[in-house]
Amino acid sequence: MKALILSGGKGKRLRPLTYTGAKQLVPIANQPILWYGIEAIAAAGITDIGIIINPETGEEIEAKTGNGDRFGVTITYLLQANPDGLAHAVKTAQPFLGESPFLLYLGDNLIEADLRLVLDEFTVNQFDALTLLAPIANPSAYGVADLDAEGRLIRFVEKPAVPPSNLALVGIYCFSAAVHAAIATLRPSARGELEITEAIQALIDAGKAVEARHLAGWWIDTGKKDDLLEANRIVLDDRLHPQNLGDVDKQSRIIGRVGIGAGTQVTNCTIRGPVVIGENCRLENCYVGPYSSIGNQVTLIDVDLEYSVVLQGATVIHIHQRIIDSVIGQRAYICSAPPRPKAMRFMIGDDCQIELCH
Ligand code: G1P
Repeated sequence: MKALILSGGKGKRLRPLTYTGAKQLVPIANQPILWYGIEAIAAAGITDIGIIINPETGEEIEAKTGNGDRFGVTITYLLQANPDGLAHAVKTAQPFLGESPFLLYLGDNLIEADLRLVLDEFTVNQFDALTLLAPIANPSAYGVADLDAEGRLIRFVEKPAVPPSNLALVGIYCFSAAVHAAIATLRPSARGELEITEAIQALIDAGKAVEARHLAGWWIDTGKKDDLLEANRIVLDDRLHPQNLGDVDKQSRIIGRVGIGAGTQVTNCTIRGPVVIGENCRLENCYVGPYSSIGNQVTLIDVDLEYSVVLQGATVIHIHQRIIDSVIGQRAYICSAPPRPKAMRFMIGDDCQIELCH
């Protein structure tokens, strides 16, 4: 069994963060999203992993993630020259996959469930495809399953205007080598892509063994800012190990589960977990509230911040209103304005969103 992780997406919905970095390296609880997928696959016992990358962000993903040693797996990077769809990515990986069955994992998806159970069911039953379904409020943004009255799978449709159910196709699938022949029959969809959903439909139409299971536990597709904050909340709740490798003074109060990295100085702060703070940060006279992740080399002085993600090298100083529900990019700088003339001053990158309170 091999695994193929798709990490070639451009992450348009996460701009501006994805102008300067790969979507799959955006951190959740201070770890790149992609690495959670690699860890889950490794934990399920798959050691031969291909990662699809694109020409723009591939180098960064490869440089940061490496050859797999840190996860106990072997990673092969596979370049997809054009963003021609998920099924096209599988086609690109065909020389790597050979005749092997494989787990297809979209690099921006995170699930709570143990992949081993999914893989066992797929292998024991010798299915050609095993898909996972999750109930969702906005199914039109996903692949959607149509089931009969007995709950058996009839068909899948990609991003339907009128969804046949509220069951979205999770971005984690098991396939036999039969999928390659199905992909070979596909034509580009309305959005100009070879759709994996249509490949699964082609398997169904060819009478192959295609099954769908309801996913146990949470599922997050970290496409947009609010999904990112939600993913951060869930992962901090679920997986944060409290530890203090930094330097916290006597005036500071650390409450609940908090992780503090080496070289970080915390002075006169209240930190209420779950919170993770990276290495070599400086925090002074701050309140950092639940569900916040602070990257490495961040400076926070006189700031109240909660339910937010602050990326590496950002500085936030002397802000007298609480910052919540925010994602602050690498090396961003937020400070209070001088008293005269009383005005707001901005230097904002493309596609940023700012909400001011009056
Ligand atoms: C892709 C698939 C869709 C699936 C989703 C899960 O959508 O095409 O069927 O439900 O991933 O994350 P995309 O991320 O390309 O919009």
